[in-house]
Amino acid sequence: MTLVDSSFDLAGRPDLLAALTHRPLPRFADAATACADRPTVTHPHAPGLDIVGQDALVPLVGGGEIAYANLDHAASAPALRVVHEAVERSIAGYASVHRGAGWHSKLSTALYEGAREPVRAFVGGRADDTVIFTRNTTDSLNLLAHSIPRRTTVVVFESEHHAALLPWERQDGIDGRTVVRLPVPALPELAVGAVDDALRRRAPGPALVVITGASNVTGELWPVAELARVAKARGARIALDAAQLAPHRRFSIAELGVDYVAVSGHKLYAPYGAGVLVGRSDWLDAAPPYLIGGGATATVSETGTVYKTGPERHEAGSPNVAGAVALATACHALATSDATAREQAEAALTDTIRAGLAAIDGVSVHTLFSGAADSIGVVTFTVAGVPASIVAAALSAEHGIGVRDGAFCAHPLVRRLLGAAGCSDGTGPGQAVRVSVGLGSTTEHAERLIAAVAEIAAHGPRVEYVVVDGRPVPADDDRPLPALAPWL
Ligand SMILES: Cc1ncc(COP(=O)(O)O)c(C=O)c1O
Repeated sequence: MTLVDSSFDLAGRPDLLAALTHRPLPRFADAATACADRPTVTHPHAPGLDIVGQDALVPLVGGGEIAYANLDHAASAPALRVVHEAVERSIAGYASVHRGAGWHSKLSTALYEGAREPVRAFVGGRADDTVIFTRNTTDSLNLLAHSIPRRTTVVVFESEHHAALLPWERQDGIDGRTVVRLPVPALPELAVGAVDDALRRRAPGPALVVITGASNVTGELWPVAELARVAKARGARIALDAAQLAPHRRFSIAELGVDYVAVSGHKLYAPYGAGVLVGRSDWLDAAPPYLIGGGATATVSETGTVYKTGPERHEAGSPNVAGAVALATACHALATSDATAREQAEAALTDTIRAGLAAIDGVSVHTLFSGAADSIGVVTFTVAGVPASIVAAALSAEHGIGVRDGAFCAHPLVRRLLGAAGCSDGTGPGQAVRVSVGLGSTTEHAERLIAAVAEIAAHGPRVEYVVVDGRPVPADDDRPLPALAPWL
């Protein structure tokens, strides 16, 4: 993995810099910011990357409160404080983008269009790459699937998140497009040979290799640079699903030789509804618009419609300015912080969690590649005799720890990791518990998790659970949700 410092130089854009950093903040509405108003804890290894709601208290079943231990960053990460503040500032001048003559339209358009550059810089994009704002990684990869040329062969491992595994299937068999699904290799190195072989055997025509940077189930890294090299040698392109990689590691798609990258803002401390696809413009400019409507069109007449090229071709309709500002601000903040210190702190925390869980009787920690691969802060485990959903419910209700349980939208991978034993009815993929660390994670969170899992493995949960809407909840639970909105 190539590490780079490609921080976007805001100095060349005084207008954006002023809009993003110098304006006084409007006052927030009390109810909507009950957590945001609490003082933040500064991350010891990432000054300036404070998290909104970092020291929020959560209620425990049976009474009392405890500081929330958010160990579910891989699902969605909380907002960076600088992101939240940038959005608040931009909303104060919000107006229509691209189509208004007013001052606020000018400001909103500059913020929206200018947001492409910090995002491009963050992923190390080439100067001529197209930067298209989407809703999330799923949307980005569906857009790319929609844009692949006729006769393209798509090569993908079955261990991918469903967002990277499935969008190509809609095109399979249409206009000569073909999807080749490869089984999960035993070692990351074997992935390279498998891709090379699949590309060598393909029918003539373009090809696209789709690969995740880091597994959302085990956190393990895939050999992206080597796969890109093989793809290039075989005349193929490569798309990187960086939904999990981007929040944890710096990379440059230009240096890696990657053609497309997809990222979600909500996993990158920018939960305001924007994601991005960055990559080569030719396929995207030649494809039919992803959405049809205003903004994507150059001219419309009785005789026909001419669509624009560039990002606007695929961004029809009024865009998500707040989402783009949030994503760009997060990219800029992460790009200008000390990535090495963050990675070292995360690695230490992850090692503590992995070793602590693995040492507990009855707990199995699951890895794809025999535990040898480099990984981000994601650890997946099961507890013998206790369903994953009960473990997760007890961690939350009894210990104030947020994790995720299930098959993590990666059913083939989880089926392979857990085998038949992990599957209660013999058909599903099985269920596990996933712990994922991020900027707000602390040693106390890790220690609390290990002690709680040890207790659950040895004695089971403290209270009784019943299933409501398919999820276990404490049978006797009198904790009301805080009234953050009129409908709660
Ligand atoms: C590796 C990976 N790819 C893609 C996605 C889909 O991301 P989103 O739900 O933001 O579209 C996820 C979400 O968990 C993921 O972990």
